[in-house]
Amino acid sequence: MTTVRDPEDFSPALRAAMVTELRALRAITSERVARAVGTVPRHRFVPGQPLEAAYAADQAVVIKRDGGGAALSSLSSAHIQSVMLEQAEISAGMRVLEIGSGGYNAALIAELVGPDGEVVSIDIDPEITARARACLEATGYERVQIVLGDAEHGVPGHDVFDRIIVTCGSWDVPSAWRWQLATGDRLIVPLRLKGITRSIAFEADGDDLVSVSYQLSGFVPMQGAGEHHERVVAIGEGESWGLRVDDGAPGGRRCAAGRAGVPAA
Ligand SMILES: C[S@@+](CC[C@H](N)C(=O)[O-])C[C@H]1O[C@@H](n2cnc3c(N)ncnc32)[C@H](O)[C@@H]1O
Repeated sequence: MTTVRDPEDFSPALRAAMVTELRALRAITSERVARAVGTVPRHRFVPGQPLEAAYAADQAVVIKRDGGGAALSSLSSAHIQSVMLEQAEISAGMRVLEIGSGGYNAALIAELVGPDGEVVSIDIDPEITARARACLEATGYERVQIVLGDAEHGVPGHDVFDRIIVTCGSWDVPSAWRWQLATGDRLIVPLRLKGITRSIAFEADGDDLVSVSYQLSGFVPMQGAGEHHERVVAIGEGESWGLRVDDGAPGGRRCAAGRAGVPAA
């Protein structure tokens, strides 16, 4: 006789084990993030994937690729999601904007803000917004608002947010993000600087954004108006070394030498 494993029987134990691992890795450092990660059923945002893949602490699951095989959308690793939620210091009742949808991270944010808070998640890809909405409804997080649009221009019809969490790799901070924050509010963004992506937490201070923490990270790239084409020009024979042209200018002055072919995670 074959016994079929019901994921719902195993997922609480897998979630608890993942929280223990994320605490050991110092990705989770607060009780409130531990409680959120221990509550949201991550496997239900990647149906059809093995439970082990859904609950591997440091593994992203690719949801969509372009014609060349590059990842366009993924369920980010629980490790970087926890790190960014800790950087954000979200509390009950806050209004939070997530840029880049998938459903799972928005559900974690919904747990953190509680019933009096508000979560808006925007994505540029209609397939991804439809999928995120369906997963959120199926798991009971239908109060998360999913918006289709290019986040480069902010979220029309919304005023300021207490927190903005960007979950795609960006080369810049569009002014729209700054103007959807008030003084003291936070923007968490994976910024790609000289070939390295760092999740940087900025605090709005008057007209400025002041960085308060950073962590190394890797993300699928931003699409739309803020898209940026980083070029690596091979030097000499073979493919080991190259010049990375950060600003796209031909023969660019702002080049950095490095190993060619080192991928953005
Ligand atoms: C890593 S995935 C998001 C993962 C998601 N936050 C989760 O729960 O794991 C990054 C997403 O950013 C979206 N994206 C890329 N550029 C965008 C833009 N300009 N505006 C809005 N979304 C964008 C992609 O379509 C992709 O779905």
